[in-house]
Amino acid sequence: MSDLFDEQLQALSARSLRRKLREIGSAQGPEIHLTGRRLINFSSNDYLGLAADSRLREAAIAAIKEYGVGAGASRLISGTQSPHVRLEEALARWKGTEAAICFSSGYAAAIGTLPALVSKHDVVILDKLCHASLVDGAKLSGAIIRVFPHNHLGKLESHLDWARRGRPEARAVIVTESVFSMDGDRPPLREIIELKKRFGALLLLDEAHAIGIVGPNGRGLAAEIGFGGEVDVQMGTLSKALGVSGGYICGSRSLVDWLINRARSFIYSTAPPPGIVAAALAAVDFLGSSEGEERRLLLWKRISLMQEFLPGGGLNKKATNASSAIFPWIVGGEQAAIDLASALQKEGFLVPAVRYPTVAKGAARLRITVTAAHEKEQIRLLCEAIKRLSA
Ligand SMILES: Cc1ncc(COP(=O)(O)O)c(C=O)c1O
Repeated sequence: MSDLFDEQLQALSARSLRRKLREIGSAQGPEIHLTGRRLINFSSNDYLGLAADSRLREAAIAAIKEYGVGAGASRLISGTQSPHVRLEEALARWKGTEAAICFSSGYAAAIGTLPALVSKHDVVILDKLCHASLVDGAKLSGAIIRVFPHNHLGKLESHLDWARRGRPEARAVIVTESVFSMDGDRPPLREIIELKKRFGALLLLDEAHAIGIVGPNGRGLAAEIGFGGEVDVQMGTLSKALGVSGGYICGSRSLVDWLINRARSFIYSTAPPPGIVAAALAAVDFLGSSEGEERRLLLWKRISLMQEFLPGGGLNKKATNASSAIFPWIVGGEQAAIDLASALQKEGFLVPAVRYPTVAKGAARLRITVTAAHEKEQIRLLCEAIKRLSA
């Protein structure tokens, strides 16, 4: 039994594709302790530095004192405690939608929502770079799947045209992201919304890496371009800029009621713990405050510094206009990416090497994430090290 997977694991190692866990003995922050060593952390999605914020900790502790640590059952059985209701009200208010529903993770939101929206006679049309949770949700739905090359409007249009001609009665859902998780770029959202309207399709927009960063009070890309009302299914996570854990869908009351009745990852899973939910509510309140807006603007100053200091060269064009807090540093080969990440770790930086199947084969990269909590000097030192080690 013990050697059941040894051969397959060795095959992964031989292709530089084996993954290993690293123990971190500290809270998230710009510096972390990795097996006894302090490293400057450029690996986290805690973009606003909220994961260890005292207000969020206190909100969680107060909720634990009042409600305990477990929700007891799924939301429909006995798990809808007051913090869940308050969080959903706050999310809907913040996003300007009729209603919201929370899931235990963004992954659960995606794999619960897509199969509730479409079934085998319908069509899901995804951007090639969509996150695995969206791909898995589409597969689980049993719908026909079409993929368009990254941000390619012409191909998206031809898929929509094909879906409408061949299946005029079927539902077509376009799925894309506001900020792509491994590339940090954005979609042409206005044009996608135009296409969705022209072809009578629905749009699911995953704002996982835009929430808290993009748009007024961090409400996301749709809000930034003033098209919030045009996105039928607004997905996001509470686990990145909001610093906690969980996923959500915001939209119409009938969409949310339908998900309560049909999203299996919501119905058949114990509700998120009340302490986590209360911390997420504190994070949403923070984003809506003037201090939250200041923190978001500070993050953009850090993003500009990264853009200024990160060198161009090799496979990397010098970024002219950063669109997010995610900076991919493309290396190409899987082993080369691991080697560069290890060399950086020796110099005191934690930057993950991202490889296939998270990104395409031969497109391995460092995924550098900058946060509002980084100091200017930390960003400068990292960029200098990358320049030196990549020369
Ligand atoms: C674009 C995108 N969507 C969804 C998810 C899943 O969210 P969570 O980590 O909350 O499960 C992630 C996180 O990895 C993501 O990057």
